Amino acid sequence: MFGQDTATGRSNAAVREAYDDYVMPIWKSLNVPVRRAEGCTLEDFEGNEYLDVFSGISVMNAGHGNDAVVEAATAQLEEFVHGCSYVHPNEPVASLAERLAEVTPGNMRKTFFCNSGTEAVEGAIKLARKHTGSKEVVSLEMGFHGRTLGSLALTGNKSYKAGMAPTINDVAHTAPPYAYRCPRCDGERCDASCADRLERVIGAHTSGDLSAVVVEPVMGEAGIVVPSAEWLHRVQEIAHDHGALLIADEVQTGYGRTGALFASERFDLEPDVITQAKGIANGLPLGAFSARAGIADSFSAGDHLSTFGGNPVACAAALATLDELQDGIVENAREQEPWLREELAALEADFDAVGQSRGLGLMWGVELVDPDASGPISDAPAPDADLAARVGEHLREEANVVIGVGGYYKNVIRFQPPLTITREQLSRAVTALRDALDELA
Ligand SMILES: Cc1ncc(COP(=O)(O)O)c(C=O)c1O
Repeated sequence: MFGQDTATGRSNAAVREAYDDYVMPIWKSLNVPVRRAEGCTLEDFEGNEYLDVFSGISVMNAGHGNDAVVEAATAQLEEFVHGCSYVHPNEPVASLAERLAEVTPGNMRKTFFCNSGTEAVEGAIKLARKHTGSKEVVSLEMGFHGRTLGSLALTGNKSYKAGMAPTINDVAHTAPPYAYRCPRCDGERCDASCADRLERVIGAHTSGDLSAVVVEPVMGEAGIVVPSAEWLHRVQEIAHDHGALLIADEVQTGYGRTGALFASERFDLEPDVITQAKGIANGLPLGAFSARAGIADSFSAGDHLSTFGGNPVACAAALATLDELQDGIVENAREQEPWLREELAALEADFDAVGQSRGLGLMWGVELVDPDASGPISDAPAPDADLAARVGEHLREEANVVIGVGGYYKNVIRFQPPLTITREQLSRAVTALRDALDELA
């Protein structure tokens, strides 16, 4: 068989074929079957190497194959793998929960562990309902919170919902801080007055029985939409005025992604509940939501459970991940930020097809547009999803760089590499993007 990997007996083609035949067709594959990965490098079954600038959708924050994480998980694997942490207390859960009380912003005290981001969001909503005695939720248009029916209801994008309705009721959506296409502000920065829209949404689209307002501190799937601190603080104020909790969905922004352990820190925001997943255990499946003591204690025995939640191997990996992140990796994300900001701003200046670049830490979006066509809602030009798809493909095929292509209009190139990435690797990715734009834009 062509290009066969001797160790596994598999080839790129065979893996793709098996996917076509036996895996449910829910994703247009990135087309790079992975045989092994290390640091920021992916290797396929034919020995081709790719620079990974997307981390498997923003997950491998401490780098692929991080030795300390692998060692911690392996050590726990040899002790015991499962005992249902809610039936038999285990030490990794205890230590991780205690550690999260220390490292999360605000006065988070207690944590529930599950297996994924969507479960974290579902659980957080249940907790908010139990705590407030109210039912309704407001989230953001264009936001993403997961694909199970509760989190899907919060997700403000019909492309994820088509054919799946009805989801849960009693969810309303307010305008996101998407300054580039905001009809209210200057196009650069949504401030507190843009957040005031939430008052009207609560007044017009809810019965006032509000349990939570849910926001991503930086909106990932929307296309890396960065709010101002004033916008976030005003949203929290309005939520509290209505007796509701502010839930920060940090599934994507947490664990160093924005150059702080949690993005809320970058805005001096102290949410009431924080949802987590993705980078938490550097690739092992783990989700969590943490809350202030007074809120967390609203749950009582039997209110919530997950058989696999708090898996000791995943929790041991999470503890090692936190050690690694706090030992210079988050700092690296913070230090790379100004350089990347400047490089991407230069693309914005040099190419009419780059509408805007924006981000924090190592979470950046480059929004591609058709400068000659008018766009929706505001004066900004039309999104160019076709160009974004071609740029993503060009990077992969011509430069061996795997990068994200997404956003609400599917026109945003997403830089979300492992946070261990070096300047040289980052520079290679930016140069490849510049070359792709030179050729295609
Ligand atoms: C902000 C946010 N919340 C929730 C989720 C859902 O996480 P999962 O895919 O682990 O269910 C995602 C996934 O992209 C996300 O970005």
